[in-house]
Amino acid sequence: MDQEQIILMSSREIEKMRHAGQTAAQLLQYLEPMVQPGVTTLELNDAAEAWTQARGARSAPLGYPDGSDNPFPKSICTSVNEVVCHGIPNAKQVLQSGDIINIDVTPLVDGYHGDTSRTFLVGEPSPLAERLVKVTEECLWRGIQAVKPGGRVGDIGAAIQAYAEAEGFSVVRDFVGHGVGRIFHAAPQIPHYGTRGKGKKFRPGMVFTIEPMINEGSYEVEVLADQWTAVTKDRKLSAQFEHTIVVTTDGVDVLTLLPELVPA
Ligand code: MF3
Ligand code: CO
Ligand code: CO
Repeated sequence: MDQEQIILMSSREIEKMRHAGQTAAQLLQYLEPMVQPGVTTLELNDAAEAWTQARGARSAPLGYPDGSDNPFPKSICTSVNEVVCHGIPNAKQVLQSGDIINIDVTPLVDGYHGDTSRTFLVGEPSPLAERLVKVTEECLWRGIQAVKPGGRVGDIGAAIQAYAEAEGFSVVRDFVGHGVGRIFHAAPQIPHYGTRGKGKKFRPGMVFTIEPMINEGSYEVEVLADQWTAVTKDRKLSAQFEHTIVVTTDGVDVLTLLPELVPA
């Protein structure tokens, strides 16, 4: 993956990515009010699939990757509590007050992928769950703000890791952000831990995700027998937030941020 060439997008392509990114963000907005005690993760999946089809788009996770003997079987990832990522929506999984759930959506719109996720609190979360989710969202923003002209990919992970660990949490190693565009997972890899000044240099037109997974306990993960669901080894909580961004000449543009959600 790292030997692959990093694509630099033209402004025409970036506008297509923006359209896909905004569609992904709107899908999360559409799902948010449904995230309540009593809903099943399959109901969230089916609502997402119907919404996506109604826009003439396709759910990239469904059947991903092409040609695999164990492709992802659903349209979105729903990762509850100790699930780190790639949770599979299921009719028997009913959300309970106190749960946290990451919903990760990737509509393929006019040939381009918009990849974004948020972790939602269900009902009344514990103070610890609430703090983990808040810290994880802040990790994403610190990672985004680390993208500066002349900087390097390692700056992102260094910023995220410093903050997460200062808060007493840990950074997942086994899953990373990624280049995204016509291809769902492309070069470069974007680790959420690491060293400032190391790694590939940022270039205007680079488009990639930043998607830190932050654990309450140890950073170790294991993948369940379904070969998708990644859980914390200690079964403590994990949270994640994700945006798709483009490097510009003076910083970064967040393609999956809705105008009404720009942080203060
Ligand atoms: N959306 C996930 C990501 O952020 C990837 C999901 S792959 C799937 O990279 F097959 F699990 F859907
Ligand atoms: Co991603
Ligand atoms: Co994603």
